[in-house]
Amino acid sequence: MNLDSNRPQSSGLEGVVAAETRLSDVDGERGRLTIAGHDVEHLGLAATYEDAFALLESGALPDATGRERTRAALGQARAQAFALLPRLGDALELSDGMDALRTALAHVQPGAQGGLSESMRVVGAVSLFAATWARRAAGLSPQPPDPARATASDFLRLVRDREPSAAEVQALEAYWVTVCDHGMNASTFAARVVASTGSDRVSALVAALGALKGPLHGGAPGPVLDMLDAVSSPKNAERWLEAELGAGRRIMGMGHRIYRVRDPRAAVLEKAIERLEQAGASSGRLSLARAVERAAVGVLRARHPDRPLHANVEFYTAVLLDSVGLPRSLFSPAFAVGRVLGWSAHFDEQRATGRLIRPASRYVGPKPS
Ligand code: COA
Repeated sequence: MNLDSNRPQSSGLEGVVAAETRLSDVDGERGRLTIAGHDVEHLGLAATYEDAFALLESGALPDATGRERTRAALGQARAQAFALLPRLGDALELSDGMDALRTALAHVQPGAQGGLSESMRVVGAVSLFAATWARRAAGLSPQPPDPARATASDFLRLVRDREPSAAEVQALEAYWVTVCDHGMNASTFAARVVASTGSDRVSALVAALGALKGPLHGGAPGPVLDMLDAVSSPKNAERWLEAELGAGRRIMGMGHRIYRVRDPRAAVLEKAIERLEQAGASSGRLSLARAVERAAVGVLRARHPDRPLHANVEFYTAVLLDSVGLPRSLFSPAFAVGRVLGWSAHFDEQRATGRLIRPASRYVGPKPS
């Protein structure tokens, strides 16, 4: 496992074997993301959440029957998770959504149950717990899931307490499919390390949630929305961005550890928002976001001519999640609902190797005298 494949500079850990994965491949130079054999540009706009689950679990997109079977099983998994609510203590009353999700998920017993596989059960539990936390945070009482619905439709219905449109459901699915897996990112690595010890799937996903909570990993979309609010009009963009950089702050949603060109996921989400706007349902922030992105690329190029800095996935995530009516506090838990598909598949892939991950360290402390 090459621990630091993401770092351009020397890590001191070269030569350690890279993990093999069939789940996704990130090409930072060319700006390409392949998810289980599919370009993200195509998959993100065409597949459903249930398709992505089946694809990552089995390696192939399901046919219509398979899609229905997955939808029904995930619906049952949400119903099973709802029945657990009385045993979660105050987990879903915690003020931070990621704390709530991590604590609630830790209560789930590993293993298959009631005819549902372990992976179905945990994936269904994550979306149900995230939606229930959002309801509680909004002062609404928990509401049972509708197992006949697709995950995205049920999630939006529960969170917003009203019927979502087909365009909104499609937009949320595009987001979840687009972020379902992304190479050996920090939370996926955390899940694989736990899997490699022979521990259980719930423990691996709790570790992954802990990693995703960190602001360097999953926390930028909220601040991107704050930035769009502060800029408020394209004519203010350049001045605002210059002032931000002048104050020593970074522009949120710009730059990436691996991509040296625009993050391909930004383009997929931008198209998904466009589709939503055409259906007449959106926050109207897309044109402002595009203007701010253009200005940010210019301002950053002037400051860092040798370091290409472009929009990353978080930039348009903010606009998309806002457009489908999710509150900012739910952005990171919503990311987890998408990424849990990848974590769970990585758990299986790592367990199948039967190998313990034991990264090397380089001792730089004092020598014994
Ligand atoms: N705004 C302003 N400057 C930025 C920047 C940003 N968003 N991203 C990178 N830079 C600058 C750094 O200040 C640094 O400049 P310096 O060499 O003069 O100090 C240079 O570009 C290289 O940055 P570095 O921190 O080495 O890059 P990284 O690969 O470690 O960082 C991120 C990647 C994503 C952490 C970084 O681009 C960032 O902080 N982006 C904003 C947060 C964000 O959108 N996160 C979501 C990521 S998906």
